[in-house]
Amino acid sequence: MSAIADFSTYKVISPIRSALEDDTQVTVLWLDGRTSPYHLLWLRDNCPCSRCVYSVTREQVVEILDIPEDIQAARVTLTDDGNLDILWQDGHASTYDAGWLRAHAYDEESLAERERLKPKKRLWGSSLAVPAFHYTDVMADDAALLAWLLAVRDTGLSLIHGVPTESGALVPVAKRISFIRESNFGTLFDVQSKVDADSNAYTAFNLPLHTDLPTRELQPGLQFLHCLVNDARGGSSTFVDGFKLAEVLREEDPQSFEILTTLPIEFRNRGRSSDYRYQAPIIALGENQEVTEIRMANFLRGPFSTLPATMPLLYRAYRRFITLTRDVRFRYRQRLEAGQLWCFDNRRALHARDEFDPASGARHFQGCYVDRDELHSRIRVLQR
Ligand code: OGA
Ligand code: ZN
Ligand code: ZN
Repeated sequence: MSAIADFSTYKVISPIRSALEDDTQVTVLWLDGRTSPYHLLWLRDNCPCSRCVYSVTREQVVEILDIPEDIQAARVTLTDDGNLDILWQDGHASTYDAGWLRAHAYDEESLAERERLKPKKRLWGSSLAVPAFHYTDVMADDAALLAWLLAVRDTGLSLIHGVPTESGALVPVAKRISFIRESNFGTLFDVQSKVDADSNAYTAFNLPLHTDLPTRELQPGLQFLHCLVNDARGGSSTFVDGFKLAEVLREEDPQSFEILTTLPIEFRNRGRSSDYRYQAPIIALGENQEVTEIRMANFLRGPFSTLPATMPLLYRAYRRFITLTRDVRFRYRQRLEAGQLWCFDNRRALHARDEFDPASGARHFQGCYVDRDELHSRIRVLQR
């Protein structure tokens, strides 16, 4: 029976030298000098045996109240192959894989190390060398797929060349990751100048830097934009790294940063048969005050609604943010040509297009969305 209730395997970074027990915990001393305490309740909670975890789903079948709070070990030993064995006083037996234990250690050093090893976002500006990939590689080769997905995760913007210029050709590319997220604009949306446009996106106007669907509780994580034809004059793409702008604002104008991270703004998308609205700050922060999301589309913004004393501060902060989006130091510009596809983190990279002249030639892009969860899940599976 496996000592890991997981679909992954865990490398033994350092073998266990010894394990000491007392009434509340087992302290593991690793050969490389690290010391990791594990509470008895934590260990019993994480028993990987087939009575505690269903081997088919690798999901737990015991609940914490099925285990006495003052659980005691009768015997703690190391197995011949270096794993940790615990015989509990009630007769239950648990074996813990040394690599798994190390990967889940919660001593201070291990927690800090895991924090340090988290993938780092690469912030960028106008001189970005955009990570570029080829359609046939990402379609046929899992290593190329993984390289592309890591670039999307860490840089938030990527380009794919050589995509067939047929309608729907972006679907199999998106499905290399996972499910497409539908919206009221369809599973795929056709970005073309239309007479009966239900969004400024479907005109020939310039579209200022924005994220798509800020009107939803969860903005789509990834956006695909595939160019079928781009023969019209104008219509170049621009991207900015929203995380970079937020960091510049935090540094240069802390008051505006505070306002944009705390005051909710309403975004609206109204159609004849739908009415989407969502209120949230433009910049979202995570538990360590790191920027996790940008929500921004000037053309979808409702009237500001905040106390009179705050209104001038909100306008000041908002103008400051828009000023940053217009700063050439941060703007990466490139015209998308037929057969090319942008894939970017819609909750991070703001995108824009220049005005184009529909009389000068055809312009047809197709787009779709995939959520961030799907990206991270695919990366983990490819990395197993
Ligand atoms: C959109 C959009 C960009 C373009 O449809 O949301 O941003 O280049 N389109 O047309
Ligand atoms: Zn068990
Ligand atoms: Zn858009």
